[in-house]
Amino acid sequence: MILVTGGAGFIGSNFVLDWLAQSGEAVVNLDKLTYAGNLNNLATIDGDARHTFVHGDICDGALVLSLLQQHRPRAIIHFAAESHVDRSILGPGEFINTNINGTFALLEAARAYWSVLEAGEKAAFRFLHVSTDEVYGTLGPNDPPFTETTTYAPNSPYSASKAASDHLVRAYHHTYGMPVLTTNCSNNYGPYHFPEKLIPLIIANALAGKPLPIYGDGMQVRDWLYVSDHCAAIRRVLADGVPGQVYNVGGWNEMTNLDVVHTLCDILDRQAPKQGSYRDQITYVTDRPGHDRRYAIDAGKLERELGWKPAETFESGIRKTVQWYLANQAWVANVQSGAYMSWVNKNYANRETAQ
Ligand code: NAD
Ligand code: TYD
Repeated sequence: MILVTGGAGFIGSNFVLDWLAQSGEAVVNLDKLTYAGNLNNLATIDGDARHTFVHGDICDGALVLSLLQQHRPRAIIHFAAESHVDRSILGPGEFINTNINGTFALLEAARAYWSVLEAGEKAAFRFLHVSTDEVYGTLGPNDPPFTETTTYAPNSPYSASKAASDHLVRAYHHTYGMPVLTTNCSNNYGPYHFPEKLIPLIIANALAGKPLPIYGDGMQVRDWLYVSDHCAAIRRVLADGVPGQVYNVGGWNEMTNLDVVHTLCDILDRQAPKQGSYRDQITYVTDRPGHDRRYAIDAGKLERELGWKPAETFESGIRKTVQWYLANQAWVANVQSGAYMSWVNKNYANRETAQ
């Protein structure tokens, strides 16, 4: 079995759903259920005996170690993080706590568990750390895309905290020989994406008749990847990645924010027509402080060495995404009203946290 952290968030829940659809191997899913964690994301595997959900914090080393000793996973896939750049600007503390201290606590628990495994299990064990392209900083318009050897230059509290966690993971390989793998991925989009991030926010605001906020001039560039392609890349790296190595994951799909928003408006104009175009709702707002201008990933190593390529183009992925949001407006309403949180409070208020 495998242990996943942060499996009730956007990418983690997509990963758990895809994993159980493709493999018989059980998953223990450790998640603190912050505002970004939503058990509704896992509703389709309710009652599936292969999935064990544990409500807990990665910073709680004793809890993590007891889970490892109880379930004896062959791998840890570490998604849990604070992930929203704007929130990291308004309040960096929780980013330092979860992304740095939490990763450290997880690594320490993993080391205690791993170091006493018998030789075969010890060699086969993997700690896969899911990270971001934002650790590399920002690119000029003509710079080549980020490779695995690009110098780290994080610019936001979020990316700095992820960079710190990447360094810790690297050090556990070099110092202790722990079989770690790190993936640095570009911006994801797809189902269960929390509507504070650009793509789901634009879809939700468009349908609600609200302004579509564009930071600054909207000419910032991101390299978008459909979330199931990221999940497939993680499975490839877990299966055949070389311990200690880093793999960049990206969609070969650079777009300006304005182009992304125009594309969304045009699809919505066709699929949910209203009087006038959704483009009329576009509103330019003050830019994000320290806003990185351009991210782009060179995913050549992953393709050459492990044979991974994205299955979706931006056109196919974004169409699926809009369709998912149109078909799941109750999910969005639930998130926006906070109803999923009150359910969590009701469900967990009187429960012991697993120890
Ligand atoms: P998310 O914010 O949607 O989900 C994070 C999950 O982690 C939530 O379920 C939350 O409850 C959980 N969590 C937070 N703090 C925790 C703690 N202390 N203990 C246990 N669980 C905790 O994030 P996401 O977009 O799914 O990102 C997942 C990972 O992928 C992150 O590490 C992020 O840095 C990385 N990543 C994200 C993107 C992207 O575009 N979203 C791109 C590249 C890499
Ligand atoms: P986001 O989804 O927050 O991801 P990240 O900052 O990690 O790349 O933002 C994607 C891009 O969209 C980023 O350049 C900021 C921009 N953006 C807006 O223009 N308006 C918005 O309301 C949001 C949330 C983001």
